[in-house]
Amino acid sequence: MMFTQKLKITVITLFLIYIVITVFSVTEILAGQNDEEINRKVETLLKEMTLEEKVGQMTQVTFQVISVPENENKGFPVDMNKLETAIMTYHVGSILNTPYDKTQSLDTWIKVTTSVQDTAKKTRLKIPVLYGIDAIHGATYTKGSTLFPQAISMAATFNRDLSRKEGEITAREVRACGIPWNFYPVMDIGRQPLWSRFWETCGEDVYLASEMGKAYIEGQQGDNYGSPDKCATCLKHYVGYSFPVNGKDRSPAWISERMIREYFLPTFEEGVKAGSPTVMINSAEVDGIPGHANYHYLTEILKGELKFEGFTVSDWEDIKRLYTRDKVASSPKEAVKIAVMAGVDMSMVPFDFTFYSLLLELVKDGEVPMERIDDAVSRILRVKFKTGIFEDPYHQESMAKKFATEESEKINLQSARESIVLAKNEGTILPLNKKSKILVTGPTANLLHVLNGGWTVTWQGDDESLYPENKLTVVKAIEKKCEDKVTFVEGSTFDKEVNIEKAVEEAKNNDIILLCLGEKAYCESPGSIENLTLDEGQLNLARAMIKTKKPVILLLLEGRPRIVTEIAEEVSVVIVGMRPGMEGGRAIADILFGDYNPDGKLPFTYPRNTNGITLYDYKPIENFETNKYNPLYPFGHGLSYSTFETSGLTLDKKAVKKGETVKATVTVKNTGHIAGKETVLLYLNDVAAQVSRPNRQLKGFEKIYLNPGESKSVIFEITPQSMSFIGIENKRIIEPGEFKVFVGTMEENFVVE
Ligand code: BGC
Repeated sequence: MMFTQKLKITVITLFLIYIVITVFSVTEILAGQNDEEINRKVETLLKEMTLEEKVGQMTQVTFQVISVPENENKGFPVDMNKLETAIMTYHVGSILNTPYDKTQSLDTWIKVTTSVQDTAKKTRLKIPVLYGIDAIHGATYTKGSTLFPQAISMAATFNRDLSRKEGEITAREVRACGIPWNFYPVMDIGRQPLWSRFWETCGEDVYLASEMGKAYIEGQQGDNYGSPDKCATCLKHYVGYSFPVNGKDRSPAWISERMIREYFLPTFEEGVKAGSPTVMINSAEVDGIPGHANYHYLTEILKGELKFEGFTVSDWEDIKRLYTRDKVASSPKEAVKIAVMAGVDMSMVPFDFTFYSLLLELVKDGEVPMERIDDAVSRILRVKFKTGIFEDPYHQESMAKKFATEESEKINLQSARESIVLAKNEGTILPLNKKSKILVTGPTANLLHVLNGGWTVTWQGDDESLYPENKLTVVKAIEKKCEDKVTFVEGSTFDKEVNIEKAVEEAKNNDIILLCLGEKAYCESPGSIENLTLDEGQLNLARAMIKTKKPVILLLLEGRPRIVTEIAEEVSVVIVGMRPGMEGGRAIADILFGDYNPDGKLPFTYPRNTNGITLYDYKPIENFETNKYNPLYPFGHGLSYSTFETSGLTLDKKAVKKGETVKATVTVKNTGHIAGKETVLLYLNDVAAQVSRPNRQLKGFEKIYLNPGESKSVIFEITPQSMSFIGIENKRIIEPGEFKVFVGTMEENFVVE
């Protein structure tokens, strides 16, 4: 009896151990966590590779290098001879970009990526090519793809779940093309509103940008970016790129290491922790050191301190520019040496094979050690193994079936709705009555590109002729809602002067004016400006519309907060729409007519004046004597058609030891008459510290849905990380002392002992 019982227990125990081991290893394989096996494969492969093959892996060229001229393209844009030269002769490891800088059909993409991988299979070691693309708000360069709000607008949703879904959908649509690598998310912080890439960021706050970025990575990569429906991400642009002193793209930033660590590094730290396997480098310079020459940031901090095991890729032509532009190198060859030795693993050359030839020479001359090459190539191969392209380098047929589904469009529409910020709502104009007579005017009223911005169908995003015909501009979306009772005054493209007289004349026959202003699509350096104030042409139209005394709704579709104070103060309604994406027109119409209750909040400070760029987390000195935080609209601002009351802020502890967490609880009630979403924001202030602390910093946000009269409690965890800052020694520390917690108009405090 005893024996049988023992036997039974042993059998059951063994069985359980077996199950645990099996489940564990299956999960491990599924999760792509089998790092040891991958490392072994990489080591074996590396031993077989020639120096030429290794240096080739570190070389990335743009599509143009393998392209037939556009006028000779007969449905297959690849020149097979050029492709073979790139892959067979130069052993190129990666290709990027789209044919002719414009959107292509899914079918063309499949042909392109198939031919690339077929050619790679003809090489001695059959190492697949890692194709990379800028799918920054969806599959930018694939016709009919789901194109989401741009980052600045996604951030306005304060909705992690939507960011996660954007990642998921983008991964599917990019993989359907045969592309396993996306140069996204942008982890730069938007603290310089002049910057032409402001809209590519999640705005000025470190915590919000980290949370949205992390959620995107989770969505795009899942547990295993080698799955057929997932895709590898790329954090960019490491580090400090987004804060140019003069506001111009690719110009110097002066940011001390303390401020880098406090404001610009944390998003990358979070991205690395979330498992992003690649990092693209800052195209400009910080404190006089070009991003691509910065050993301290690339090797010591990123690869050392942050333990980043993936690979770094240069930005466009930036290794060459160490010589041609920055003059930190005295020859193209020295530029390659500086960059590789600083820690750049892959060069986006992108137009030729000079990097390949120069790096070969440098290794042969003993100027770049073989260990550095082996390190870079191992990193690259590891990512290639993890993307699953060694097993199956081709497009995913099952994903092609899930391309731009109705469900994706629905999620995109919801993202667009949640991204729209109702900044001012005086009187009773909104929501609009579907029977009202509306005059719509202004340059952003009838264009899709103003909703989308750069990296949409083309790099600059402004070629309206390439946009899908079935998507709705603001005017078209409004017409749909109110049975065509809309007057639209043409002459409103950015190239033509707006016909102001006609607009004034038409205003007389209408009840309400929807004034659509803002910026055309742009991207990178071509989008640099000298003056943040909106141009006179648009301001003149606005002044004339205000003069008619008809109620004016100002809608802003723009990539950065252009100064509009003079007119914003005169109109009844201001909607900050930024870049809400392909469903933006529908989303705006839904909000205007009350079919959706607005819930977006500003992820940045909307300045009142061109030089009034004090941000919400200002230092005490910025609000001292004559200095003031006096924006047009503050960070976190956004109205609803409902009203919400937040009350009862309580902390579970009044004193904690270093390393402990404090829980904060509040109750939110919908005190209005319609259902809606409210985002609760929790801020923290470290009252006295060795380095001056911001007056407040966002440390928690939750978006909740409430029916009229409904209440919910929201719990926040104030973690040790939230209480920490970068001290005098440039290290993250927590100092004992008092902390203030703010939610809405409430304030509580606790002490770290
Ligand atoms: C941009 C990057 C982009 C790269 C590849 C560069 O000009 O700065 O953000 O990923 O081009 O297209």
